[in-house]
Amino acid sequence: MIKIKSPREISLMRQAGKITAAARNLAGKMVTAGTTTQEIDKAVHDFIISQGAIPTFLGYSGYPASICISVNDELIHGIPGKRVLRDGDVVSIDVGATKDGYVGDCAATYIVGGGTEEDKRLVEVTRQSFFEGMKYAREGYRVSDISHAIQEYVEANGFSVVREYVGHGVGSEMHESPEVPNYGKPGRGPRLVRGMTIAVEPMVNQGAAAIKVLPDGWTVVSADGKKTAHYENTILITSGDPEILTVFEGVCE
Ligand code: MF3
Ligand code: CO
Repeated sequence: MIKIKSPREISLMRQAGKITAAARNLAGKMVTAGTTTQEIDKAVHDFIISQGAIPTFLGYSGYPASICISVNDELIHGIPGKRVLRDGDVVSIDVGATKDGYVGDCAATYIVGGGTEEDKRLVEVTRQSFFEGMKYAREGYRVSDISHAIQEYVEANGFSVVREYVGHGVGSEMHESPEVPNYGKPGRGPRLVRGMTIAVEPMVNQGAAAIKVLPDGWTVVSADGKKTAHYENTILITSGDPEILTVFEGVCE
């Protein structure tokens, strides 16, 4: 069952989204050589608490931290720790914050220092694939129209989309209906209706699409060891253009 949000719920989703986007922005600025991944986790945790919100991921299914930070071949769900970021690392950061019972969920990928041309292209194509999906995040289309647009754009640029993990409805819970895959034929799945709030999150591999989960039970890596990227926003379906809820000072990274 897809939960259509009331105007009151939408304004709470905007508040949660703003805090989540500000947390992502803070995390992104800390992606520098010599910083440990747990330092970024702590800063984000403290920021979210300072906003009167709760880090959504902390304790979710036993997840041990407030952010997911996934470096190079790590795609999603990387656990913060003592790892020191180095020049050229491709770093995906995923953040969730719950404010007054509503969840914001967003992610972005940053490169430490310059980065190679091919790594910069990976990050840009992943981000742009989200905006290609946004062209179909409108009434009159169906969920898989977003999925199809993301897949087409990523594959046209020579990268691959991961199948095992998908975007999702988001609201009073982090994971609600519907699932929002990053692949598939157009014209399938639920119709998009104003008041739906969904997290659209392309997960992209520089090499083949296959992934595996590390023995820690969380970290998802590319099977071929090539680099990966992730980009996500929480959005609202409206009567016109979709509204991106995870924006901070007009910016969504
Ligand atoms: N953004 C991720 C998602 O959409 C966050 C889940 S990580 C977890 O599923 F640690 F909270 F599980
Ligand atoms: Co998500």
